[in-house]
Amino acid sequence: MAISIKTPEDIEGMRIAGRLGAEVLDYITPFVKPGVTTGELDRLCHEYMVNVQGTVPAPLNYAPPGYPPFPKAVCTSVNDVICHGIPGDKVLKNGDVVNIDVTVITKDGYHGDNSRMFFIGEPSKLARRLTDITYECMWLGISKVKPGAHLGDIGHVIQQHAENAGYSVVREFCGHGIGKVFHEEPQVLHYGRPGTGEELKAGMIFTIEPMINAGRREIREMPDGWTIKTKDRSLSAQWEHMILVTETGYEVLTTSAGTPPPPAIVQPKDTVAA
Ligand code: MF3
Ligand code: CO
Ligand code: CO
Repeated sequence: MAISIKTPEDIEGMRIAGRLGAEVLDYITPFVKPGVTTGELDRLCHEYMVNVQGTVPAPLNYAPPGYPPFPKAVCTSVNDVICHGIPGDKVLKNGDVVNIDVTVITKDGYHGDNSRMFFIGEPSKLARRLTDITYECMWLGISKVKPGAHLGDIGHVIQQHAENAGYSVVREFCGHGIGKVFHEEPQVLHYGRPGTGEELKAGMIFTIEPMINAGRREIREMPDGWTIKTKDRSLSAQWEHMILVTETGYEVLTTSAGTPPPPAIVQPKDTVAA
């Protein structure tokens, strides 16, 4: 099966989905404070999606082969949780770091998938550096996106930046094609070699969502069937954007008023067609 090329109608639908997905993260930001539970953050996001946006949370009851239905609207991954943390009665405290991963489904059936890191109060030096390096990894990957580039170009630059900083790249989870389907081809690995993997073509849409560990890359699966932690209990960080391959490069679809700007390590995109 080839990677789908989105129609102009699909692309317009995915721009809307991406903006709505990002706006959920904007909305939740002021609530991410010491004392709040991850379950309360989930409830607030869920209500905002359904009652304000008219979107539906894609994770709720999502059950890929081998997984039990995901029981909540968003993923909240705290400290050594790599991804797919299930919101619950966990109270966030000063010094914690949390990734909130939001995927909305719009009325037209398009998915808007993105995540950001949040600090609870004052982060440790390690937490700040890991979070910053992971953000740079995501953006270095994004900056490689253009027709004729290869998926391996993205993976390589992410792996190189993470490992140069002394960190490791999680192998078991990756970015993914997305549209009316939540997870579709291609798999976007966050490691690899330049020039390898599928060639990018205008109209493809996929996520880039590196999971970077402060320690070793190995994972541990929790008995809930979803939560993934670092095996060595080291801190883990993740950021996620949804990217369209354009004729000249890329467009970040998960953009809103509160989207953090690209890091200094990535040059501002030349938006003028060559
Ligand atoms: N949003 C996640 C991703 O980036 C997937 C979460 S699936 C869930 O692909 F069921 F755990 F929510
Ligand atoms: Co994703
Ligand atoms: Co996601």
